[in-house]
Parts: sequence; C-alpha cells; structure tokens
Amino acid sequence: MTDHPANEMALRAYGFDNLDLRWLRSKTGVKWGRIAPDVLPAWIADMDFPVAPPVLDALAATLSRGDLGYPAWSNWGGPDPLANDFTKRMELYHWAPQPDWVRSFSDIIQAIQIVIQTMTAPGDGVVIQTPSYPPFLKTVTMMGRRAITDPIERTEGGWSFDPQRLRRTIVEERPRVLIVVNPHNPTGRVFTRAELEELAEIAIANDMVVVSDEVLADLAFAPHRHIPIASLSPEIAARTITMTSATKAFNFAGLRCAVTHIGPAELREAIDAAPPDVFGVVNVLGIEATKAAWCDGDGWLAAVRDRLRQNRDMVCDSIVQRMPMITCDPPEANYLLWLDCGKLHKEDTAVFFREAARVELSTGKSFGPGCEDFVRLNFATSPNILTEILSRMAAAV
Ligand SMILES: Cc1ncc(COP(=O)(O)O)c(C=O)c1O
Repeated sequence: MTDHPANEMALRAYGFDNLDLRWLRSKTGVKWGRIAPDVLPAWIADMDFPVAPPVLDALAATLSRGDLGYPAWSNWGGPDPLANDFTKRMELYHWAPQPDWVRSFSDIIQAIQIVIQTMTAPGDGVVIQTPSYPPFLKTVTMMGRRAITDPIERTEGGWSFDPQRLRRTIVEERPRVLIVVNPHNPTGRVFTRAELEELAEIAIANDMVVVSDEVLADLAFAPHRHIPIASLSPEIAARTITMTSATKAFNFAGLRCAVTHIGPAELREAIDAAPPDVFGVVNVLGIEATKAAWCDGDGWLAAVRDRLRQNRDMVCDSIVQRMPMITCDPPEANYLLWLDCGKLHKEDTAVFFREAARVELSTGKSFGPGCEDFVRLNFATSPNILTEILSRMAAAV
C-alpha cells in the first residue's frame, strides 16, 4: 500500500484535526462511554475520527432504501457476501486468495473461537506471541486449551521474536495452533518476509494450523509493507486461517463484521455442516460498510495514515523529551504505543495515570507474562486532545 504525502487540506477536510470533545463525550461506545467525565481515554482501539464519507453514504443509502430485510446470504446458501470484495482487496498485498474459501463472521474473536473449538481438543496447546491482544489469551484459557506464550522482545533492531526458541518450545509442547498477529498489536511490528517464512516453516514442520490475524494490514506505514502469510506458498495457505475486516482501519468496530479465508478443508466443511445460523450471520449494515470502505475508502484511509504518522512522531518526541524514563519504539503500523514504564516503579502504571493524570490507558497486565510494567496508549485522536493527554501524563510523571 502506498502512502500519499501528508496533505494538510485533506486532513482538515476529513475533520481529523480538531475534534470536538462534546461530540466525543456524547458517544455511547465503550471508549468514551465508560470513563469519568474528566478523564481522557487513550485505551481501547477505536479511533476518534469521523467515519469515512463513502461508508456513511453507503449506510445512509441502505437505511433510506429501507433495505433491512433478511440478508440475501442468510440461510440460503450461495457464496459468502464478502468473497469477491476480500479477494479484490488482497490484490493490494499481491495475494490471490480462493473466493470459495472465504467465510464471514461477526468478529475476529468469534472466528478464532470457532477455529479452536473445531480444530483442537481441551488440553491442546495454542501458541500465542506476547504481548498479546488480551482477548486471545483469555479465549484460549477459557476454552480449556493450554496457552503457550512466546515473547516478542525488544532488541537493538526493534521488537522481534527468536525463531530458535519458538521452534524449541513447539517441539517440546507439541501445540496444534499458532496464532500470529501481523501487523502486531501492541508493538506495531510489521513482520518481514524473512520472519514470516520462519513462522511458516515452523508451522509446516510441526504440522500446525496457523491463525493469522491481519486486521491491521491497512494501517501499515510506508515503507513497511504487509505480507499475508498465506501468500507465501500454497502449502502454508492450506493450513492458514487468515482473518481480517474493514472495521479497524475504517473505524466501525461497532458494526461487527469480519472475514476469514480458511485453508484447512476440514474446517470449512465443519463450518458448512453446522446448523443454520449457529455462529450468527453477518448483518446488512456491516457488509455495506465493508464493501464501501474497501471500494471507495482509500482516499480517507491515506489521510488517516498521514494523521496517525504525524501523531506517532509527536507522541514519541514528547516522550523522549518530557518523559525520558518511559521507553517507546515508533510503531510500523497502527495507532498504539507500547510503553515500557518499568522505571516509574508503579504497582499498576495504568492505575497511576488514571489517578494522577486523568488519562485512561490499557494496562500491560492483561497482555501476558512479562507485560506488567507496560501500558498501551492509543494516539488515534486529534492533535489538540493528544497534546492535552501528553501534558497530563508528563505532569503526573
Ligand atoms: C490485532 C487485533 N485483532 C482483533 C481485534 C478485534 O477484532 P474484532 O473486533 O473483529 O473481534 C483487535 C482489536 O483491537 C485487534 O487489535
């Protein structure tokens, strides 16, 4: 994906640059709806920006047509409603998926749960790289599978995993599933072809199923480029379930709509043989929004990436200059910063910032072992709000 040069006019035109706090506080979603009125939220991964005009237009057109009857894909068989749109979208990443391997679900977490339920038995191991998006760890544990964690660590070259150690762990523990999150939340790493080849090789050598969560692909900053792991070879594609959606990059997580590309035939067959609607059915508005985003939303998306890149640089500079005891690495994708606050010596740094700065961050504790000293900061907001967040944090520190 190419990044357009920063275009101040576009940023202003889309309304990213001076968000109205009254509008944000009037939202009912969890990010703004569940905090005290004097707290600024920089926690859950929603962006504060208005939704892309083509998405809003598509939703408005569907509503004004009164087109809210049973969807054409509910229960009647036929192709998945996103098969062609997903296949077309993947051209951006030089990958030609199989349209008939596509299945839509209401969200990625649900899709992972279906994979685990179908492809593993209680007690089986599932490998998760940590720090990990918390619902993955929770899902694996609550489903009675063994969460086998392998750290992505800070090295001189940035965040990375140790393929030798991962290989050893897998040989010892014999897990069935490897969960890969690429681009990675919360470190913002976009794995290179060499790293993905290592992961693919390990999965093939150990006969593992790969869940590849690629939902953040559209938020990679140039020159970093997302590579779908399933695009590496037919062999890895056949054992990979690629998961994505338009909801993260286009900021409509509330519409609950995700899409998967399922390599293992036995999983496709199990899903198709399940009773009607047992996994729920994707809804009309989610599908309309996804199609509009992928077909007509790339101008808006380029402007979002510009805004995010500028925000990222501003936050990192501010941390280096005003909070030098906190360590951060600029993410290669996405709008989250993974901050090492070990030198602050707080019992729970997120609680400290909530109480002392009135800023809500995500606590590192829920991201897996070794993450206790970290917090995650969401910088997808306008510069005026971000400046206030940083001033509050610097004063508290
Ligand atoms: C890497 C990653 N995967 C999945 C999700 C959630 O996706 P969904 O809302 O479709 O479950 C998130 C949300 O932030 C995420 O960061």
